[in-house]
Amino acid sequence: MRNTDQDWGTLSKLFHWLTALLIFIQIPLGFYAEEIKDSPFRPELFVIHKSLGMIVLILVIERLLWRIMGTVPEIPNASEMQRRLAQLAHGLLYGLMLLIPISGWVITSAANKPLNFFWLFDIPAITGPDKALKSLAVDVHVICVFILIAVLVAHIGAALHHHFKRRDSVLKRMWF
Ligand code: HEM
Ligand code: HEM
Repeated sequence: MRNTDQDWGTLSKLFHWLTALLIFIQIPLGFYAEEIKDSPFRPELFVIHKSLGMIVLILVIERLLWRIMGTVPEIPNASEMQRRLAQLAHGLLYGLMLLIPISGWVITSAANKPLNFFWLFDIPAITGPDKALKSLAVDVHVICVFILIAVLVAHIGAALHHHFKRRDSVLKRMWF
């Protein structure tokens, strides 16, 4: 269950792949829902977008707590510089995975719109109605998404490079 100095534990792997799956759904879903301005499905798609995004937020908080409570395996077959770059990319990914859903929550709150969790219940607002704050939060949300896409290209590229070029265990040990 726990991480060791060599390997990721099952819970860390579950967190990683579950958040990865949700992020891969959220990015196209967000762009698509934003695109279909007059469609009757738009509000329903936003219910799904906001609910999945709040699940990402909860998962990332749990994941960071779990990470702080345990150890993190060393990256094999990497120079000091590459290790630092990987740490920087992972730190950025965690920061963005927090900032994106929180800014989304602020957009909805400041726009005075409901945050309905899968048509089950409403999640309370974190700010009062505020037009200026809403447009600031939209900028943060969208800019962070573009930064996330760029960091993910590097992250996935690095994982594939380890697997196919260096043929080491970096990608395999993140799998089950
Ligand atoms: C096809 C997609 C992906 C692949 C192949 C992949 C691969 C990997 C691998 C191999 C590691 C382990 C690196 C190591 O051992 O140090 C890792 C760690 C990590 N990945 Fe991914 N990843 C993918 C998608 C994502 C996505 C979408 C996110 C989040 C937006 C993400 C966030 C992270 C983070 C934060 C870590 C560091 C874990 C930690 O140190 O706590 N990954 N990834
Ligand atoms: C993993 C988390 C999330 C990702 C990757 C994500 C991604 C996106 C993307 C790609 C867009 C389209 C941007 C555009 O074209 O303008 C978007 C828009 C939006 N998202 Fe998210 N989102 C996430 C979480 C959330 C959460 C938790 C909420 C609300 C609680 C939310 C609310 C919104 C809203 C209201 C918009 C429309 C913004 C506008 O008016 O332009 N998002 N999101």
